[in-house]
This record gives sequence, C-alpha cells and structure tokens, in this order.
Amino acid sequence: MRVVLGVSGGIAAYKAASLLRRFTESGHDVTVVPTEAALRFVGAPTWAALSGKPVATDVWTGVDQVPHVRIGQQAQLVVVAPATADLLAKAATGQADDLLTATLLTARCPVVFAPAMHTEMWLHPATQANVATLRARGATVVEPAAGRLTGADSGPGRLPEPEELYAACLAAVGTAGGQGSLQGLRVVVSAGGTREPLDPVRFLGNRSSGKQGVALAAEARRRGAQVVLVAANLAVPAPSGVTVRTVETAVQMEAAMTAEVADADVVVMCAAVADFRPRSYAATKIKKTHAADGSDDSAPVIELVRNPDILAGLVRDRARRGSGLRPVIVGFAAETGDASGSVLELARAKLTRKGCDLLVANEVGVDTTFGQDSSTVHILSADGRPARTVGPAGKDVVAAAVWDEIGGRLRAH
Ligand code: CTP
Repeated sequence: MRVVLGVSGGIAAYKAASLLRRFTESGHDVTVVPTEAALRFVGAPTWAALSGKPVATDVWTGVDQVPHVRIGQQAQLVVVAPATADLLAKAATGQADDLLTATLLTARCPVVFAPAMHTEMWLHPATQANVATLRARGATVVEPAAGRLTGADSGPGRLPEPEELYAACLAAVGTAGGQGSLQGLRVVVSAGGTREPLDPVRFLGNRSSGKQGVALAAEARRRGAQVVLVAANLAVPAPSGVTVRTVETAVQMEAAMTAEVADADVVVMCAAVADFRPRSYAATKIKKTHAADGSDDSAPVIELVRNPDILAGLVRDRARRGSGLRPVIVGFAAETGDASGSVLELARAKLTRKGCDLLVANEVGVDTTFGQDSSTVHILSADGRPARTVGPAGKDVVAAAVWDEIGGRLRAH
C-alpha cells in the first residue's frame, strides 16, 4: 500500500518513527512528509533513512514532479501523526501552505489524524470544532490517549502507541474499502467443533460454538469475498450469502478443506478440531453390563488415535505446490497459558510449529471465549512483527481486525 506519513511539529514526532517502521516492516511503501516544525523535533535524515526515500517539507523540491499534487493523488492512505492543533485547524479550513497540507487537499484516499497536544488545546472548542469538521468529511480522527504529557501535567492529549495507530490505519483502509475490499477473492473458513463418534448416541466433542468462524465468514462476505464455510456442528446459524459445507468429524473436515482450498486466496482454520478420535466406532449403543446381583461396576476403556492436523497439512500442501503465499493460511490457537509459558509464548511456538502466516491466539478458560460473545485475541504474524491484541471485544470486531491483517498481507504481496 502507498502510505503518506505526515508529521507535524509536536514532541510526539519521535513516536512517528516507530509507526513508520511498523509500516515498512509490513511491506508498505511510505513517503514521509514532515512540516518545517516537525523537523525541529526529528530531523530529515531520520525520516529519509527509515523510509528509504528523500524527504521534503515544501512544494519547491523536485517541482518538475509536481509533488504537491502527485503525492496526495497517488496515496492509498494518508496518516498524520502527530497532528498538532495547528495542523488540524489548517486541514479543517483547507489551507495549503506547505507540502503536507497540500497533500491533504489532493488526497482522495482514507485519511487518519492522530492528534497530540496539551489537554487544554485538545479540549478547546476551536480544536473540537475542527475535529468534528474533519470527521464529518470522512476522515478518521483517533482519540488521543490520556496520561502523562510533556511536562509534569497529565490528561487527554498523548499520541497513542504506534501499534494502536497502525491498527487504526488498517481499520480506516478496511472501512473505506470495506464493502468491496475482498472483491474477487475466494475465501475458505472452517468453524465450529468436530465431534468424534463413539457409538450412535455418544461422541467426543468440545465447547466451540462456531460463533467466531461464522463472524469471520460474514465479515469476508460483507467485504465482497466469495466465501465457503466448512461448518462442524455450529450452535449458531450460518450467515447468508456463503456456501456451507457441513461436516461432523476431523477426518470429514480434512477432506472438505483439502477440496475447497485448491483455488482459494485465503484459508482460515477457525474450527476446534479434535486431536484424537476413538480407535473404533461401536455400531450399536455401548451398554453397561448387567450382573444379576448388580455387582458389576466396570467401565470400558476408550482407546484413542490421532486425528490429522489439518492446518499443518494445508501448509505442507501449499509448500509442495510451490504456490508462494497463495492461499494465505491463518490458524487459530486456543491457549490458557501454563507452567511452560504464557498465552503469547505458547502461541508464538505454535505459529512456528504449524508454519501458517498468521495465528490468532484466543485466551481461553471455561467461562471465556467458548460460546461467549466476546473474546481477547493476539494476532501473531510469521514475519515476526509484534503481536496485535484485540479485545475484549465482540467476535465481529475480532473478525474485522483479522481481515484487516489479512488484507494488509494480501496488499503487501
Ligand atoms: N487444528 C487442525 N487440526 C487439528 C488440530 C488443530 O487443523 N487436528 C488447527 C485449528 O483449527 C487451529 C490450530 O490448528 O487453527 C490450532 O489448534 P489448537 O487446538 O490450538 O492446537 P493444537 O495443534 O491442537 O495444539 P495443542 O492442542 O497441543 O495446543
């Protein structure tokens, strides 16, 4: 994605350097446009070195390229971080006296402002009116964080952390292109929990309701994808507009996934797949033995065998086909954390073990995540970027964040 990072003159300009890294490490092409005042806080060499591009503040550098028009026109996202009170005022009133403000007037892509200033300036009716004007025109204005400001004072006005800003940028692009951002793509999502039958009336199962997978399928559909939902024992209805393939067991799910991913662009393994199944299936109901004197209290021993690891198999098949990053493969992990590691540590190890591109780690407990309407997840990327934490939030919010991450990956490659 072609990103313009505008930096205006506030102390928080140093944090914009981390935001710039976040974008470049994800494969985005970033042009930094600082204001003159911003360069008093962080100099041009820093921006040039981190972005790998020359940096200009005025409209007179490289004038043959008409930069005051071209940079804005070609941008797919403009983010201004930090946005000072002065910059917000200029943007709201359409002034264009330097390269950044001119770029804001020519951009037709999503625009994100991340204000940072003292609390008094932020709360002043003039600033609030400017923010309202920018939002009414469709820009995203991120709420500043509350906390310690430049001096000893504290209150709302801090620039949010780079990771949060990055998420807001992806969300703005996702929202702007939301309705059609996955148009033309074929997506396969597995959902629910497999059941491994013991006899005609019993099975080994798990607590998965399928809500998260259904939310992912619905969101992909909303963004324009053609969606196949491989559904195992859902406790909620499948969304409309998606093709549903119903399965019960892990082995059936493996067969359905293998068939469906052949021409898919993205595959998301959200289902809770049983790792084991009973070695044998009793064709008739397993009965208690009935000793005449009632003395027999024996119980059968159920022998289990391993189920296929579907996700690992999909990764292996892709490597065998040599189809690069198609499909993008996303796994989920249900982790409680234990003596051997935290949720994040276990998830990072699982991401490596499974070899998928993204891993969405759910924090689970008996009363959390399974069957609930909200959850907390960490989205980990195989390229080693820091994890993005979402929630506690509704499963639809988690679904949107996961598709934003996948969308970013699809655009970057
Ligand atoms: N998965 C799979 N096939 C299996 C087990 C899991 O495809 N037999 C997928 C899940 O859909 C999920 C990911 O692997 O995307 C991780 O599932 P999880 O149950 O957390 O991991 P396991 O591999 O089962 O590891 P463990 O139980 O040791 O934590």
